[in-house]
Amino acid sequence: MSCEKKPVAPCREGHDMPISPLPPEVVAQIAAGEVIERPASVVKELVENALDAGASRISVEVRNGGIDLVEVVDDGCGIEPEELELAFARYATSKLRSLGDLSCIVTLGFRGEALASISAVAEVELASRPPHLEHGAWVKVRHGKVVTKGWRGMSPGTHVRVRELFKAQPARRKFLRSPQAEARAVAQVMANYALAYPHVSFSLTLDARPYLHTPGSGQLREAVASVYDADLAAMLVLVDGEDSGVRVQGLVSPPGFHKGTPSYISLFVNGRWVKDRRLPRVLEAVYQGLLPSQRYPVAILNIWIPPAEVDVNVHPAKAYVRFRDDEAVARALVRVVRQALVDKAGPPQISLASSLKGSDAQASARGEGGQATRDALPTLQVVGQVGRLYVVAEGPDGMYLIDQHAAHERILYEELLRQIQARRPALQSLLTPLVVQTSPGERGLIEEWLDHLRAHGFELEALEGGAYLLRAIPQILAGRDPLASLFSVLEELPKRHVQGDRVAAVIACHAAVRAGDLLSEAEMRELVRRLALAEVPHTCPHGRPTLVRIGADDLARHFGRR
Ligand SMILES: Nc1ncnc2c1ncn2[C@@H]1O[C@H](COP(=O)(O)OP(=O)(O)O)[C@@H](O)[C@H]1O
Ligand SMILES: [Mg+2]
Repeated sequence: MSCEKKPVAPCREGHDMPISPLPPEVVAQIAAGEVIERPASVVKELVENALDAGASRISVEVRNGGIDLVEVVDDGCGIEPEELELAFARYATSKLRSLGDLSCIVTLGFRGEALASISAVAEVELASRPPHLEHGAWVKVRHGKVVTKGWRGMSPGTHVRVRELFKAQPARRKFLRSPQAEARAVAQVMANYALAYPHVSFSLTLDARPYLHTPGSGQLREAVASVYDADLAAMLVLVDGEDSGVRVQGLVSPPGFHKGTPSYISLFVNGRWVKDRRLPRVLEAVYQGLLPSQRYPVAILNIWIPPAEVDVNVHPAKAYVRFRDDEAVARALVRVVRQALVDKAGPPQISLASSLKGSDAQASARGEGGQATRDALPTLQVVGQVGRLYVVAEGPDGMYLIDQHAAHERILYEELLRQIQARRPALQSLLTPLVVQTSPGERGLIEEWLDHLRAHGFELEALEGGAYLLRAIPQILAGRDPLASLFSVLEELPKRHVQGDRVAAVIACHAAVRAGDLLSEAEMRELVRRLALAEVPHTCPHGRPTLVRIGADDLARHFGRR
């Protein structure tokens, strides 16, 4: 994917914005504060400066977790020699002038305090050469004071070397973690920026060992391959869409692929990595019913929004942002990502080679390592049923095995969600209402879930003494014993963890055909037809796959036909 939209106004075109001190009324308005806590914060600030300078290559070298050395070299627009010392003054910046600018920030930095803060707690040597000059100028600043300066030959760009971090602040040095832990934090910062800026080549060296290198090709998939791995990058689904002025671009994992930690979720707003908790929660809502509980998607997403719609001036480390319209951003995120998943994600594919090895195949069938094809469900011809459990079907690209229970669960789940959205649950009234005698545990469950149960068609009326009167049940449970259905739903509710509508998932599970049910050919055809119409046909509401494909190529290879 190419990121044609550049997030920040990179270089000061024609250098029309020199570095100058911010007026006091602007200083009073900025969420200033100490931003240097650890080596990773030094790296973050220096990398942001390089990005603001329009660099296309940024290399970072770190020794001893950054405690001994942090060095950042960029090929950006450089600093004019006469502005070099001013760059170290607190609240001196080339990126902001007036209060008005504060509401429309397009650069990563804007407060002019990073270099001042870093040089207050370390020794900083900064050399810089704007491309129009023959030589670079350098300055060494220690504890906020210029120690030496001069000229030197160098290629265009800026070179910053930070040493002796917190040497004069032993208390703060004590708060640092082990060099390994500090190095990990640096690597995390670099990984985030490498993912947010695929058109910039990043390299990181830790104690003289290359740790990360991204090509800077502009292809996000290539950046992801460098930061994580190529297999993961290849299976991600492209996201690129707009909803009421909010553009969402990036890559996300297909349904059925998930991780045990949320750390593969990287979200950026206008090219700025944000720590925000709300956005990942919105993303979890997108994956409702697509992942098992306690599992997380992989997502690298950049949200582009007009700068005036977002306030970045709310946190000293600029890690949080405030949107003028939270709802609009959440809506765009949900719609654009969901659309990409519906359009692009296909069923997990079993590789025959690995299926013969056993355990790999099981993992693949669970969708953990399964390759996802990126097309929607094709037209499938039913061939038959295996083990009273799987429907065998033929598609244009191979053979499909459909888990009859999981598939039916998915179909019914979506039907129930549609009814809930339309606030019209299909219900079956009972000819004679039934009295529901409950144990204290069951009563607690009914009380906890009463609104949801009612919304889905369980018409329950509280009686004296803890009993209930059941007047109707959801239509899809018609024909089953009403009381037994209610109790099995109650029994399952605490057990089934679903990110979506838990009551709907439990009802769907209860109503769906089971493993062991013999299906007629007409029933199998109907099942496959309705699955193809499902919004997310590839997983059941609990995130298990509904079907797997064995590719025609794979079969041919296996039988030595290719
Ligand atoms: N790598 C760099 N390339 C070009 N200019 C830089 C670089 N680093 C710092 N500067 C200049 O120094 C100024 C001060 O930097 P900094 O203290 O980080 O504050 P801010 O980024 O908020 O402006 C910046 O506004 C910019 O003009
Ligand atoms: Mg800065």
